[in-house]
Order: sequence, then structure tokens, then C-alpha cells
Amino acid sequence: MSRHLQKWTLFLAIITLIISTFSCTGPEGPAGPPGKDGKDGSPGTAVCAVCHESSTFLLSKKMQFHNSLHYLGETFAIANRTQCATCHTHEGFRESLTTNLDTAIAAIAQPTGVNCRTCHYVHTKYDTSDYNLTYKSPVKFRYGGQTVDFGNGNLCVKCHQARDVVPLPIVGGDSVTISNFRWGPHYSMNGNILAGLGGFEISGPVPYPKKNPHKELIQDGCITCHMAKPYGTFAGGHSFKMTYESGGVEVPHVASCAQSDCHAGTTNFDIDGKVTEIKNLLAELRQKLIDKGLLDVSRNTDGKNVLNEYILLPGNRPKKFSALEAGAVLNYLLVAKDRSYGVHNYKYAKALLKNTIEALN
Ligand code: HEC
Ligand code: HEC
Ligand code: HEC
Ligand code: HEC
Ligand code: HEC
Repeated sequence: MSRHLQKWTLFLAIITLIISTFSCTGPEGPAGPPGKDGKDGSPGTAVCAVCHESSTFLLSKKMQFHNSLHYLGETFAIANRTQCATCHTHEGFRESLTTNLDTAIAAIAQPTGVNCRTCHYVHTKYDTSDYNLTYKSPVKFRYGGQTVDFGNGNLCVKCHQARDVVPLPIVGGDSVTISNFRWGPHYSMNGNILAGLGGFEISGPVPYPKKNPHKELIQDGCITCHMAKPYGTFAGGHSFKMTYESGGVEVPHVASCAQSDCHAGTTNFDIDGKVTEIKNLLAELRQKLIDKGLLDVSRNTDGKNVLNEYILLPGNRPKKFSALEAGAVLNYLLVAKDRSYGVHNYKYAKALLKNTIEALN
């Protein structure tokens, strides 16, 4: 064999070895475990269009809402301290639903008032479940401690309930010393009145009712009446209003009352003159309390905002009241500041007013 041929043979042998090592693999092995999911991409506009579309479904709620005191009111700007923020600010309210506390952990630095996100989970799952209500469970009252259930209206009652009354006069009990003219159930007792709870229940000619048809028959409480089929964007729906102004006249929005199985065909709230009756009793008690030096109406000069009436502390100094005196003022404040004039609970309002007037005679 020539030297040349020997070299050529060695070269071929090496090439064959290389090829057999690298190209001759066996059958494929089993697949490995799947890798981790990547991050979700940002939602495409199709997701947004579930809600942000060309109809006025969302817009109508927004326009109604812009006529509501939840939107127009200014109290959230000042009432953002820890004791106030859970009812007056959006941030404090949503925080309280997780902490289960009646006070906020800290004052809210950049508060917003009640808004869409207070009652709905806006932009959470990006589907229609975002319209679910943020709170639905029965509510334990801050004042009195009873638990009430108004269906979906529990959301409202979480805020629209009296604050604790301190000191609290007890029927037949000791006198109480009151040192702050803002003493009483605050301005938010609608839930307590609808439930028929929280009055200074002195005995008298009118028995205290066990039941309230507007609580028993109306499953979702506040919502059924205050969010009834809207009149334009001015009453009902997300305006939460029961009345609207038209040509300078206040018009009652009777959509919920006038339903066939309720007060069919009614055009006002004064069914059987009962609102008038409660208004007259309130005026009578108010005058009695003024005459006895118990009620301060000096901050309500034009008589238009009963929320500005308080117990009278001469010289704004602490004063001792008998249980009856303080209880009489408490009953007036409860029924007057509720401002439904018996619609929320006619029998309870009537019993509190009549029995108080009788006891003061
Ligand atoms: C489940 C319904 C829903 C979906 C889905 C949804 N939104 Fe909204 N969005 C709302 C509501 C309710 C509001 C508050 C009312 C308003 O301001 O119109 C709102 C408000 C907004 C606003 C006004 C500013 C603000 O934050 O209040 C913008 C901008 C917005 N959405 C963008 C988007 C985008 C972008 C998407 C998709 C990624 C989206 N939305 C998906 C319901 C939705
Ligand atoms: C987070 C607390 C909160 C919730 C929840 C809430 N409200 Fe209010 N509501 C307020 C506050 C605070 C005001 C007063 C705002 C202001 O004056 O700045 C108010 C004002 C109102 C008013 C106007 C009262 C007036 O003086 O004219 C009505 C009516 C009302 N709410 C009904 C409702 C109904 C019905 C619900 C349930 C669907 C509800 N609210 C849920 C806190 C709340
Ligand atoms: C339990 C919930 C709750 C708490 C706590 C609360 N408020 Fe209110 N407050 C309300 C509601 C609801 C209204 C609205 C009443 C209405 O207009 O029907 C209101 C009304 C008011 C008003 C308006 C009165 C008017 O003349 O129009 C002021 C001012 C106010 N609150 C201040 C405060 C301050 C300050 C604190 C804390 C010290 C506080 N609130 C704590 C629920 C609450
Ligand atoms: C005080 C609480 C509250 C606030 C604030 C609020 N909503 Fe509502 N919203 C409700 C309640 C309660 C319902 C259910 C009404 C019913 O049962 O008739 C509702 C229903 C809705 C619905 C109908 C949902 C469906 O499935 O039909 C939409 C849409 C809606 N709200 C949007 C909004 C928008 C947008 C805002 C802000 C501009 C807003 N809401 C502010 C309490 C609130
Ligand atoms: C049976 C229907 C009905 C129910 C249920 C109801 N309301 Fe009312 N509410 C009225 C009527 C009617 C008025 C008086 C309106 C007027 O004469 O100005 C009123 C008055 C009010 C006012 C005084 C300010 C205003 O708008 O006139 C507030 C605040 C209020 N209701 C909140 C509530 C809350 C919170 C609940 C649930 C705890 C509730 N209401 C349940 C019908 C109802």
C-alpha cells in the first residue's frame, strides 16, 4: 500500500467516526415538564369594550350620579379624619370593608367622596362582575349594636346609620351631662328609623310598633325607593333622589310608591295625609323644645336645613339634662333629621313624637 493510500484511508476512518458520533442519535426521549406561564399581557381593547362601548348604559348612570349629593357634596373634604372617613370618604369606606373597623387607620391624605368605586369593583376583573356591590352583608349598628338586614340596601346602611349617642339617656334613668352641641345621632339615622330602633322609647298613648311594612315588604330597602326607575337624570337611579325640581317646584318621584302592589296611582308621598300628620307633630314638638330652652335653632335661621338644629347648650358650656329632657331632644333629632317625615317608618315616628309631646306636657 502506498503511503498516499494509507493517509487517505486514515482520513476516511476519522470522518466516519465523527459522522457516526454526531449524527447517529437514538429515538427522541419523553417531553420535559412545561415551563412557567409568562406574565399576562395588558388587556386588549376588546376587554374594555365590555363596558366602554357606544351605548349610554354606563353614561346614563354617570349622568344621574352627577346630580347626586354623593357627587356634589363637600363633606368628604373636611370629614376625612379617622372617626369620619369610613362614611365620608371613598378610601376610608373601602378600607373599613377589609379591616372591619368603624374608624380609618389614618386620616385620608387625598380623599375622594362616594364614587363608582365605593359601591362597585370598578376595573378589578374587567368583566361585568365588576358591577357587583362592594358590601352586602347584614349591618351591626354602631348605635345600639343591633344587627339589621335590608338586602342590597345594607350597602347604604353601612353609612346611613346613626353614630353612637354619648352620653345616652335611659328611660327612667339618671340625668346626663352633655358637653358638645353636636350631641345626638349625627345626620345619618335613616337606617335606624327604617329598622324602628334607637329612640328614647318613653311609654305613652301610642304603642311602639314591632313591624314596619316599608322594611318587611321592601326586600332591598333604600335602593327600591331611592334608586327607582329614573326620571331623566334628575331623580331615582344613580341620583338617589326622591324629588326633583321642575320650574322651581319640588316634584315627588313616585315611581316606586305608585307600583300596582303598593300605592297604585299615587302622585305624592302624602298617602292618607300621613306625611302631613308627621310634619305637624314634628312642628309641635319642635316648638315645645324651643319653649323649654332645650333646642337650638339659631344655626337654621331660614328654617330650611333641619340638619343644623342641635340641643341647646347656653354659652356653649356643658349642661346637665334630665333623662327625659335629653331623650325628648334625641327623639326630635332622630325623626326630624331623618327627613322622610314618616315615609321610612310612619308608626315608629308617630309613636316617638306623640309620646314625647305627651311626656313634656
Ligand atoms: C366591567 C366594566 C368595565 C371594563 C371591562 C372596563 N371599564 Fe373602564 N370604567 C368602568 C367604570 C364603571 C368606570 C367609571 C365610570 C366612568 O368614569 O366612566 C370606568 C372608567 C374608566 C376610565 C375613566 C377614568 C377612571 O379610571 O375612572 C378610563 C380611562 C377607563 N375606564 C378605561 C378602561 C380601559 C382602557 C379598559 C380596558 C383595559 C376598561 N376601562 C375596562 C367600567 C369598565
Ligand atoms: C360610603 C358611605 C355611603 C354609602 C355606602 C352610601 N351613602 Fe348616601 N351619603 C353619604 C354621605 C357622606 C352623604 C352626604 C354627602 C355630603 O353632603 O357631602 C350621602 C348623601 C345621600 C343622600 C342625599 C341626602 C340629602 O341630604 O339630600 C341620599 C338620598 C343618599 N345618600 C342615599 C344613599 C343610598 C340609597 C345609598 C345606597 C345605595 C347610599 N346613600 C350609600 C354616604 C354614603
Ligand atoms: C356612620 C357613618 C358616619 C360617620 C362615622 C360620620 N358621618 Fe357625617 N354624615 C354621614 C352621612 C350618611 C351624612 C349625610 C346625611 C344626609 O345628608 O342625609 C353625614 C352628614 C354630615 C355632615 C353634613 C351636615 C349638613 O348640615 O349637611 C357633616 C358636616 C358631617 N357629616 C361631618 C362628619 C364628621 C366631622 C364626622 C367625624 C367626626 C362624621 N361626619 C362622621 C355619615 C357619617
Ligand atoms: C352609593 C352606591 C353606588 C354608587 C356610588 C354607584 N352605584 Fe352603581 N349601583 C348601585 C346599586 C345599589 C346598584 C343596583 C341597583 C338596583 O338593584 O336597581 C347599581 C347598579 C349599577 C349598574 C347596573 C349593573 C347591572 O348589572 O345592571 C351600573 C352599570 C352601575 N351601577 C354603574 C355605576 C357607575 C358608573 C357609577 C359611578 C358614576 C356608580 N354605579 C355609582 C350602587 C352604587
Ligand atoms: C318606602 C320608600 C323608601 C325607603 C325604603 C327609603 N326611603 Fe329614604 N326617603 C323616601 C322618601 C319618600 C323621602 C322623602 C323625600 C322628600 O319628601 O323630600 C326620603 C328621604 C330620605 C332622605 C332625606 C333626603 C332626601 O332625599 O329627601 C335620606 C337621606 C334618605 N331618605 C335615605 C334613605 C336610606 C339610607 C334608606 C335605607 C335605610 C331609605 N332612605 C329608605 C323614601 C324611602
